[in-house]
Amino acid sequence: MNRVYIKTYGCQMNERDSEAVAALLRARGYRLVSDEDECDILLLNTCSVRDLAEQKAIGKAGRLAKRKRQQPQFILGILGCMAQNRGAGLLDQLPDVDLIVGTQKFHQVPGYLDNLRAAREAGVPVGDTIVDIAEETDSQNTIRDHVLPERPVTAFVSIQQGCNMDCTFCIVPKTRGDERSRPMDEIVAECRELAGRGVREITLLGQIVTSYGRRLAGTPGATAGAASPFVQLLERIHEIDGVARIRFTSPHPRGFRQDLVEAYGRLTKLCDYVHLPLQSGSDRILRAMNRPYTRERYLEIVAALRAVRPNMAFSTDIIVGFPGETAEDFEETRAAFSAVNYDMAYIFKYSIRSGTPAATLPGQVSEEVKESRNQMLLRLLEQNSYRRNQALVGTEQEVLVEGPDRKGLRYMGRTRGNRTVHFAGAERLIGQLVPIRIDRATTSVLYGEVRGEVGA
Ligand code: SAH
Ligand code: F3S
Repeated sequence: MNRVYIKTYGCQMNERDSEAVAALLRARGYRLVSDEDECDILLLNTCSVRDLAEQKAIGKAGRLAKRKRQQPQFILGILGCMAQNRGAGLLDQLPDVDLIVGTQKFHQVPGYLDNLRAAREAGVPVGDTIVDIAEETDSQNTIRDHVLPERPVTAFVSIQQGCNMDCTFCIVPKTRGDERSRPMDEIVAECRELAGRGVREITLLGQIVTSYGRRLAGTPGATAGAASPFVQLLERIHEIDGVARIRFTSPHPRGFRQDLVEAYGRLTKLCDYVHLPLQSGSDRILRAMNRPYTRERYLEIVAALRAVRPNMAFSTDIIVGFPGETAEDFEETRAAFSAVNYDMAYIFKYSIRSGTPAATLPGQVSEEVKESRNQMLLRLLEQNSYRRNQALVGTEQEVLVEGPDRKGLRYMGRTRGNRTVHFAGAERLIGQLVPIRIDRATTSVLYGEVRGEVGA
């Protein structure tokens, strides 16, 4: 009765949280299974960023409640952002849920499951739900254990939790709490350990990584002219033998200062790819969103990065249909979107999140208009990705080999610019940086051939 299946919704931070929970459960003697039909315990790690994400998880939990009726020992838990956002209120819709655990309490999951199982084994009537969505000092330091595959190549490392930016559309400050950074030494030690286990590429995660460490006592860098704590962290990870590539997500345009731009000139392990959320290209809408930068400043950062790294690839987050967004505002977003020439973008239709300032703003945009603006940007993105991929045909790219592709026919890896490449490879190449000549491209994938002796 100890087989666990975890289903994760939402962002990479949720993926990382699930992985940390899985590692703790495994250490406690639980078995993680990859088939949800074979589990005794099912945990949904949820997302609240848009209404649709919550509806999906609620629908899923509703269907699982039926399984509980046939299988009384079955345990159903809801973790993460939606648990934090709604708490015990979830029980109105989902009375059969056994466990509701918020974003600062992931590390308590093994203990709570032990208690639930003990109660069932003792024949105590099933019914009492455990709800824990309290805040916990230093909970950011609990996301540190990893479950790695046999031949790990990439890993996510959480450097910070929460966010204090209060973008007017965003529920994250509520679901994730105040911005809290992990101590730099602990992060560096974790990266070093991962490198020792074979990891070559590290992606640092946080809601606003550019402000990493600002509130951390004892971090140098408060003095004028010194590199920011985030750049200091990058420098220290850059020194770790074995780490070949460093990525991070997400920076905030406001915190993307000159020292970080210059770091790209110096730190060769930093990949040629930056995810830089724009949200809107209209200064008026940016102000209403409480995003403290202008379109001009954003484009300046992009240009500065391309001056240091001409091949820099960008991705972004855009919200269409924010309250009050006019056709002219949207046109400015479209123009900025074209100007940056993105490789990748996540385009969202504005979703009302109750309790956020934008939820009650006048000028809510109709679903039809949101949909048509969304489609317009998606078409632009598709053309862009295709064009940017085609431009790589005939070039040689450095690819970090991750393993067999999904069908098991070829191998796959990613370029420094984060494009996926498929090629005929060999197991011994896993974890290596290999030169690959690109000979074909679609919108989302490159195909190529390993060059020279490595491939022989
Ligand atoms: N700072 C985080 C943002 C997390 S939310 C990060 O960049 O990692 C991820 C994205 O969801 C945001 O950048 C925004 O584009 C989108 N989003 C947030 N709230 C939204 C809402 N109410 N409606 C639509 N999209 C939203
Ligand atoms: Fe949300 Fe803005 Fe923070 S998008 S996570 S409040 S930077």
